[in-house]
Amino acid sequence: MNFDLTTEQQMIKRTIREFAEEEVAPGALERDRSKTFPKEIFRKLAELGMMGLPFPEEYGGAGADTISFAIVVEELSRACASTGITYSAHISLGGAPIHLFGTKEQKEKYLVPICTGESLGAFGLTEPNAGSDAGGTQTTAVEEGDYVVINGNKCFITNGSYAKFVSLTAVSGQKDGKKEISAYIVPTDAEGFTVIDNYEKMGLHASNTTELVLENVKVPKENLLGKKGEGFKQFLMTLDGGRIGIGAMAVGIAQAAFERALSYSTERSQFGRSISQFQVNQFKLADMALKIELARNMVYKAAWLKDQGRPFTKEAAMCKLYASEVCAEITSQAVQIHGGYGYMKEYHVERFMRDAKLLEIGEGTSEVQRMVIARQIGL
Ligand code: CAA
Repeated sequence: MNFDLTTEQQMIKRTIREFAEEEVAPGALERDRSKTFPKEIFRKLAELGMMGLPFPEEYGGAGADTISFAIVVEELSRACASTGITYSAHISLGGAPIHLFGTKEQKEKYLVPICTGESLGAFGLTEPNAGSDAGGTQTTAVEEGDYVVINGNKCFITNGSYAKFVSLTAVSGQKDGKKEISAYIVPTDAEGFTVIDNYEKMGLHASNTTELVLENVKVPKENLLGKKGEGFKQFLMTLDGGRIGIGAMAVGIAQAAFERALSYSTERSQFGRSISQFQVNQFKLADMALKIELARNMVYKAAWLKDQGRPFTKEAAMCKLYASEVCAEITSQAVQIHGGYGYMKEYHVERFMRDAKLLEIGEGTSEVQRMVIARQIGL
């Protein structure tokens, strides 16, 4: 067993940390306040070759592994979680299904612009009545000659406004008395396709979260992604990878909160001594360090299993569940250590606490992760 990062992973970590500290962190507070999407950062990430990081070089990617992807998500999220989630969704929800299930022609047409950063990646599964019960999809896809006509609504879709196309699920028929769900690649500028960017969120203010409305949207039949009727399974497989991204985001936010709490505790004096000298705070900070270490190891293990081509559904659910729950706890404790100042925006930790909450909900709630783990252990 070897816990060291490879030379390539170390290089990616150095590059992205330097980029995140110089280019991403400085504007994070202001972007959160003004709800400004970090467009320029994504132009620069494309220049750095990060937008197609784990995808094959023949489609413009960098051919890196999932551990490298997790490192990039962690480092971006440590600086700005809105940037982290945009990147994570771009790769693991936007690019991944095309990479995993697309034909060569589809990859040339749709994966290449994702790798170059010309389009952000987005994925449409969730609907107003199909959240945790993702199979409750009501969007329909009806074949008409050489076309498929799609009608329905998707909600909470990351990157919708900056995606030139979205992979989405729709009911394409019935099989053995059950809904048959297929996936399609749909251009966002198609007639009848509306992207609404109107949510008022608790956190992740600089990320783009949208509703998609499809009214008689016609796409050629060849826009079917993967096999007909396999859309639901394909998207569950995609989510396994996405959950590694959310785990990595949680580690990044928790790391940032820990670093700020540690440094504040040594600077702040009360009762005639630094508050870091009180055992109550030492134990809090020790627990934070412990839980971040465990969460990061779980994220890396799930990523490693994926890279080995081995099953990783259980480990992805475990790392997402554990990392997001400790992130919520650590960010809340970081606010607590900062006292009244922690409640103020300029100390950053209140933003971390708000951003952290989404990680227990998005890409499968903590309850869904427990369902996935329970099924994986044979229940
Ligand atoms: N990989 C491959 N196949 C899988 C799988 C996986 N991880 N998990 C299940 N399957 C297969 C099953 O074997 C089963 O196959 P058969 O029909 O051949 O037996 C099929 O898929 C259906 O599985 P289940 O019966 O387990 O399905 P279910 O309806 O009970 O749902 C669930 C299971 C775990 C609750 C699932 O619905 C789920 O993960 N829900 C949460 C969805 C989620 O994470 N949504 C957030 C999406 S993020 C988003 O849309 C917005 C954004 O931009 C961020």
